[in-house]
Amino acid sequence: SPPSQPYRTGYHFQPPKNWINDPNGPMIYKGIYHLFYQYNPKGAVWGNIVWAHSTSTDLINWTPHPHAIYPSQPSDHYGCWSGSATILPGDKPIILYTGIIDPENTQVQNLAVPKNLSDPYLREWVKYPQNPLMEPTIENEINGSSFRDPTTAWLGHDNIWRVIIGSKIHRKGLAVLYRSRDFKKWTKAKHPLHSAKDTGMWECPDFFPVSTSGQNGVDASTFGPNVKHVLKASLDDTKHEYYTIGTYNITLDRYFPDKGSVDSDSGLRYDYGKYYASKTFFDHEKNRRILLGWINESSSVADDIKKGWAGVQAIPRKIWLDKSRKQLVQWPIVELEKQRENHVQLPSQFLKGGSRIEVSGVTPVQADVEISFEIPDLKKAEVFNPSWTDPQLLCSQKGASVKSALGPFGLLALASKDLQEYTAIFFKIFKGKDKYVVLMCSDQSRSSLNDDNDKTTYGAFLNVDPVHEKLSLRSLIDHSIVESFGGGGKACIAARVYPTLAIDKNAHLYAFNYGTEKVKILNLNAWSMKKAHIFESVIEDLK
Ligand code: FRU
Repeated sequence: SPPSQPYRTGYHFQPPKNWINDPNGPMIYKGIYHLFYQYNPKGAVWGNIVWAHSTSTDLINWTPHPHAIYPSQPSDHYGCWSGSATILPGDKPIILYTGIIDPENTQVQNLAVPKNLSDPYLREWVKYPQNPLMEPTIENEINGSSFRDPTTAWLGHDNIWRVIIGSKIHRKGLAVLYRSRDFKKWTKAKHPLHSAKDTGMWECPDFFPVSTSGQNGVDASTFGPNVKHVLKASLDDTKHEYYTIGTYNITLDRYFPDKGSVDSDSGLRYDYGKYYASKTFFDHEKNRRILLGWINESSSVADDIKKGWAGVQAIPRKIWLDKSRKQLVQWPIVELEKQRENHVQLPSQFLKGGSRIEVSGVTPVQADVEISFEIPDLKKAEVFNPSWTDPQLLCSQKGASVKSALGPFGLLALASKDLQEYTAIFFKIFKGKDKYVVLMCSDQSRSSLNDDNDKTTYGAFLNVDPVHEKLSLRSLIDHSIVESFGGGGKACIAARVYPTLAIDKNAHLYAFNYGTEKVKILNLNAWSMKKAHIFESVIEDLK
């Protein structure tokens, strides 16, 4: 008989049941990683939001704890929404989060501190009795229903703390800036840190420095010539996240993007699929910055209620500035590789046009696969039409079944034997004016026979030069998730899929080339992934 829960994940974080959304307050304290997240204890749809809590030593296997923050004060009576942790000098974590104070969802910012700093799990949190610390008023021109999601704070050379809160004024999205000397009395700055017209509400902003050389991360309060700054906003209107790279002018306390703005037309995205409300933190033990993000369902609400759960956390990604300094690069944290087993390696080989090979020996529903390609004859590439500016549209129109000269080639994940169902993650290469254009797609249109699911195709342009670099793809396949990394993490696409046939033992994994020209597989390595320990105990009510 088919498994009753074919879409539950094996190594992506999810609780035993109910709704989850944003990751909150990630940090490392005394060698232990903390993940808090938005959670509905009462059902598989959004509502009744509390901060659920798990800890880990590897960010993959987790131990659940009682809810850390839940309504208990007038300042959060109607919900404990997203927020962030800051480690104060002397290794003292502190949390700022959004409290909901009335049924109209009026938002204020609150503070909580660990009850007992000698508990490495930081299981109990005490709220500041004088909460809220920041609230919307007529004088400060903040709209009470658009004032949420405080970031990790940073400390200036003047010993003053800064934090930003997501907001909007009419259609202008903004990052409201507050300052404080003691973390308790906060004053709103006259100017926002940054704003952009016509972007709507900025949810879950994130603002952090990245080193201009190498892959190491730096602490939030690092400034100077060796860093650039990143500003990210999650746009409520489109449910997509955009970021820019730029300069933080400390004297003006303003951020200036190098190019463009946080803008839904031209902006850069962490992920071109389903990925939202993400947040980074600096891991000072391993000197890296880590990005966490929420992957929502693509199934119907009725199906979510039926299966009893909704939402997962993406695999944590290390994040750093690309050599070009024009974009970020992300890669699954190295700890994930401990979950690998049953290594399968295929010999280097040509994949001729219109062919496909099966990757057997791994469990296709729970796998990690890395493939890299070399193109013998790039000159055969079709000419790129400069009017093709939208990669997602291009991927939808030129899906996995539409062949060109160079591509589609890549992977067919969660495929049924007869290919009635599959998710195709692939590249297509075009000849641009003075360089080749590489398109990366994740095509869900054939992922399930169930048409109640959102099967939108996703796409991104990948900044890789196929003349000088090999073209690589890594996909993390996990029952209902296909999380893909192109070009070593220069473009990422997370997708949710719900096969009806390609489940459990009936799923297959293939490498394919449906273009007319041959491509060469340089390397193909695949692994089964061990089930992670995420919620060993079935806990009915964690509180
Ligand atoms: C983003 C978001 C945040 C808010 C939280 C509520 O997904 O809407 O802006 O704080 O979720 O759960």
